[in-house]
Amino acid sequence: MFYRGRRLRKNDTIRTMLKENHLHKEELILPIFVTEGNNVYKEIESLRGNYHYSIDNLYRIVDKMNEAGIVSCILFGIVEHKDACGSEAFNDNGIVQQAIRKIKELNEKIYVIADVCMCEYTDHGHCGILDEDGYVNNDKTLEYLSRIAVSYAKAGVDMVAPSDMMDGHILALRETLDQNGYTSLPIMGYSAKFASAYYGPFREAAHSAPSFGDRKSYQMDLGNGNEALREVEADINEGVDIVMVKPAMPYLDVVKEVKLNYNIPLCVYQVSGEYVMLKMAVENGLMNESVIEESLLAMKRAGADLIITYFALEIAKKLGE
Ligand code: PBG
Ligand code: ZN
Repeated sequence: MFYRGRRLRKNDTIRTMLKENHLHKEELILPIFVTEGNNVYKEIESLRGNYHYSIDNLYRIVDKMNEAGIVSCILFGIVEHKDACGSEAFNDNGIVQQAIRKIKELNEKIYVIADVCMCEYTDHGHCGILDEDGYVNNDKTLEYLSRIAVSYAKAGVDMVAPSDMMDGHILALRETLDQNGYTSLPIMGYSAKFASAYYGPFREAAHSAPSFGDRKSYQMDLGNGNEALREVEADINEGVDIVMVKPAMPYLDVVKEVKLNYNIPLCVYQVSGEYVMLKMAVENGLMNESVIEESLLAMKRAGADLIITYFALEIAKKLGE
């Protein structure tokens, strides 16, 4: 006798009853780009469908989140003044700090996450403090990242998410946050972050491309799966609350391995390059728009608990229908 798998695919009811994985809008996190100035509401060319918002225009995106039922966002700041140590990042009245306060004022229930990194704030565009020879100094960078995290905490952020890929960053942030009284503030680590070309559109959007070299001395080599598990394990040992794999779809093997090996909440980041590929294919009629949901469902199947995605609003609307 052969296996008649089709018996359980016969109609919509039985297919729905047996569907193993589902998308929920509560699992989706929307990236938001905040910029200085007034009255800025400008579509980002490299990331069409996403905008730069000045503080006075944040209500626009908060309204859309409320309407769609998206409960969480992750913030990125774009600043005019950049210097060697990214001082705008830990300015208590910096752009992200202002955005945190504003979003909380507009809807205190929105769960606000802040990306913690230096590349958007340094004049050289690297994710840390440079030695004279241009090498990113790990331990010096930790002090700055800690200051940034505390500054976001003071502004009222719900969670910090260090994306710098420095060694020991989770421990450094945890200790500094605790010393400053923020023992209840969770840390989501960009644990296995690859040195990916899929970040291209984001770097345009966030004005964060390195002015020389690349990020390969801190972000992970594209071929390494086992190393990803060591990075995740290190973050867990340092007290991380949620781990992340980034990018998402090209690294679902890593997502699955992390899920099978560790019992900790797992986030994936469907990055800018993944977004534009799907967006362009759909807009040009090359693929049906259901491919977007398919991409997110694949992440769930691989083991993701949370998904950061530029499609959050449109998918949430679809799920609500
Ligand atoms: C900052 C940061 C990057 C992304 C998230 N945080 C860019 C980078 O590491 O160069 C990428 C997000 C995306 O491509 O959507 N370190
Ligand atoms: Zn960075």
